[in-house]
Amino acid sequence: MDLSIVKVPVELQAASPIERGPAVGKNIISYDNKKPPTLPDALGVYTIMPSTNTADAPHPLATPAIAAELHAGLQAPGAAISPKFLYDALGSKLFEAICELPEYYPTRIEAAIMERHGADIARAVGPGATLIDLGAGNCAKAAALFPLLHPAQYVALDISADFLRDAIDRLRQRFAHIEMTGLGLDFSQQLELPGVVRPEKRLFFYPGSSIGNFTPTEARAFLARLRAQCDTDGGLLIGIDLVKETAILDAAYDDDLGVTAAFNLNLLRHVNRLVGADFQVPQWRHLGFFNEAESRIEMHLEAREALTVTWHGGSRRFAAGERIHTENSYKYRQPAIAGLLEQSGFQAVKLWTDPQQWFALVYARALPA
Ligand SMILES: C[S@@+](CC[C@H](N)C(=O)[O-])C[C@H]1O[C@@H](n2cnc3c(N)ncnc32)[C@H](O)[C@@H]1O
Repeated sequence: MDLSIVKVPVELQAASPIERGPAVGKNIISYDNKKPPTLPDALGVYTIMPSTNTADAPHPLATPAIAAELHAGLQAPGAAISPKFLYDALGSKLFEAICELPEYYPTRIEAAIMERHGADIARAVGPGATLIDLGAGNCAKAAALFPLLHPAQYVALDISADFLRDAIDRLRQRFAHIEMTGLGLDFSQQLELPGVVRPEKRLFFYPGSSIGNFTPTEARAFLARLRAQCDTDGGLLIGIDLVKETAILDAAYDDDLGVTAAFNLNLLRHVNRLVGADFQVPQWRHLGFFNEAESRIEMHLEAREALTVTWHGGSRRFAAGERIHTENSYKYRQPAIAGLLEQSGFQAVKLWTDPQQWFALVYARALPA
């Protein structure tokens, strides 16, 4: 086992956001199969070697900024918690299970598009990219691309750091010849990539329609931040979910087995751990439905009864039926996609879709700054 754990750059090293006080730190946990063990270097990058266990590494979410974000969301008139909190280790496993559900079409259809148009995708993108997987999860989609794209380096980013490391461990068994780096980070807080990431031919891979978690305005800002992280030889391969029949959308986010409900409810346990909250899961119910006026799926947690939740630094009374908004997933119409990309500094080069036009995979090149 030669995986190293690189923490870059860690300005604060206290055990928890609560103990750490008000200063804001950036935490990245990096798993790098090429970087040798080193002492702290000039960039503030240092390696802990060897390790197969991240239990004592600070969680990328264990920061005062995250505690403040959760506090603000819980105190807001319409309570809201970012979907990034759906993904602790169990949440990532539940998402994998969701991808197996007949109702959850996005994963299946995106994979089918990649399989059917693989050669064309490879032609458009070209070999030797620095493939940067945003929210890599189990890295399965990137693995399917490796034989097509022959990347020079694979860089997987995910907030669910332990889950990501296990995925990269497995991937390295299959693709030992590819240089791989895993970064456990919250890319909504930090997108500047550390020096281990090659600057040449950066291809941001953002599958799974995760861009839909942002409002269109936020999506443009996020994509523009990606554009700022690459040169004019950079690009973007992005999966975007398309508007379709409401019943199909509703079922995809509220399945018969209740797996999506478990995924949503698990967020409460994650928040309990992060900020010492006392959410009781049985007091909450999952809601997932398409809001046609906003062109987005909404997921909420609804209080089944009047209750009070407390956490470090705050508390709130919820009336029966009151909700916490936990996810949006915006659905796009095909003609809007080119504009979204162009306004973010990318030019759509090619769009692939399925015969029913339920999902789009788009390759876009960085526009000159
Ligand atoms: C919908 S899943 C997609 C997983 C995989 N890319 C796929 O397409 O099947 C979203 C992934 O993004 C990660 N994620 C969500 N918010 C994130 C954030 N702010 N920073 C880093 N990763 C994030 C989650 O942990 C999860 O693995």
